[in-house]
Amino acid sequence: MKIGVPMEPKGETRVAIVPGSMKKLVKSGFEVIVEHNAGVAANYHDSDYEEAGAKIADRKTVMECEIIISIRMVDVDELSKDQVIACVADPFRHPEKVNDCINSGITLLSMDMIPRRLSRAQSMDVNSSQDNLAGYKAVLLGASHVPRGIPMMTTSAGTVRPAKVVIMGSGVAGLQAIATAKRLGAIVYASDVRKSAAEQIESVGGRFIEVDGMDDFEDESGYAKPLTPEFIQKVNDTVCEVASEADIIVTTARIFGRPAPITVPKSAIDNFKSGAVVVDMNADVGGNCEMTKQGEVFTTDNGVIIVGTSNLPGTLANTASMLYSNNLTTFITSLVDKENGFQISEEDDILVGAPEGNDFHVPGMGGVLICKDGEIHPKQTRLGGVL
Ligand SMILES: NC(=O)c1ccc[n+]([C@@H]2O[C@H](COP(=O)([O-])OP(=O)(O)OC[C@H]3O[C@@H](n4cnc5c(N)ncnc54)[C@H](O)[C@@H]3O)[C@@H](O)[C@H]2O)c1
Repeated sequence: MKIGVPMEPKGETRVAIVPGSMKKLVKSGFEVIVEHNAGVAANYHDSDYEEAGAKIADRKTVMECEIIISIRMVDVDELSKDQVIACVADPFRHPEKVNDCINSGITLLSMDMIPRRLSRAQSMDVNSSQDNLAGYKAVLLGASHVPRGIPMMTTSAGTVRPAKVVIMGSGVAGLQAIATAKRLGAIVYASDVRKSAAEQIESVGGRFIEVDGMDDFEDESGYAKPLTPEFIQKVNDTVCEVASEADIIVTTARIFGRPAPITVPKSAIDNFKSGAVVVDMNADVGGNCEMTKQGEVFTTDNGVIIVGTSNLPGTLANTASMLYSNNLTTFITSLVDKENGFQISEEDDILVGAPEGNDFHVPGMGGVLICKDGEIHPKQTRLGGVL
């Protein structure tokens, strides 16, 4: 069976499969066809792929493979009935692409829908592998824009106090951001709306920003639940008060399947220090900061630098591609049955979600299998609601 790895669209520097994954794919019986120069922006060259056992071909040949593996969803017009595509389709934000796949009879496996709490899914979890890098890079961007040093320095010319960093949202990206800022020598404060995050924040060296009346806003899958407007206001007021003294603020808050919540309203920026930097990790999905401009870095009238750099994992394309490729290779090879070859099975929890009664069952959500044979998977009723 052939796997095609296309060149990603403009603005995406990562590549879905790297040469290091070839051995495992070939051993499972796949032939891998990579589009000419698909990995160049991530520093993986055609010769590296060929050496590892892949074939290099033009786009048309790649797009004719039975399975396409990419990062971004490709144009469905390039695919035909019964082909399988595994990518990050972001189906809640791009339901039109899901509809295109349904109408064309394409099987869509959306890797961002992985039921990540299933222990078998952890090595396939692209959200975690990419968010971890984004959290790390967000802090480095903050440190490079802030007009001061980060660690405490005792020198003969005087003592420099450590910078104060606030991380908003302490999931995978936020925890890595806390750990990175801590390693740079900052004093780090962090927030979340899941009470259970407090212990994790402290375990990586942060100080949890407590909000009065906080309950545990965590759903069955471990993601944050949507909050009432009153409580959001309360969290924002408390956290932005702490952030008004900060040198770097990194925002990472998300609610699964919804636009990024605003954690830094414009009114809060008016109170931030001149020279403070806000790095909005969610600039591409609406932004956590009301003033963020996607893809831009600018300074407000009161001297706050707002960083809306796009695609943070893509700024570390070599590492991000390697981790994504590992996730996808583990996933795709897990679908190979010794006797029957590559199978899309209704028995597979990763594909269709944990069964009812299982602790990790999430009502209305299946797994990565979004649609097949012209129909949305019957378990994806939450997604069906937005199509
Ligand atoms: N294999 C696993 O079991 C596994 C894998 C990955 C993540 N997780 C867990 O899943 C949870 C979600 O992680 P994630 O990185 O996917 O989250 P995410 O990307 O969906 O959201 C980022 C964080 O923002 C928080 N948030 C939402 N609204 C907020 C607000 N208004 N203010 C402040 N914070 C807000 C969320 O609670 C979350 O911690 C975490 O507990 C994480 O440790 C578990």
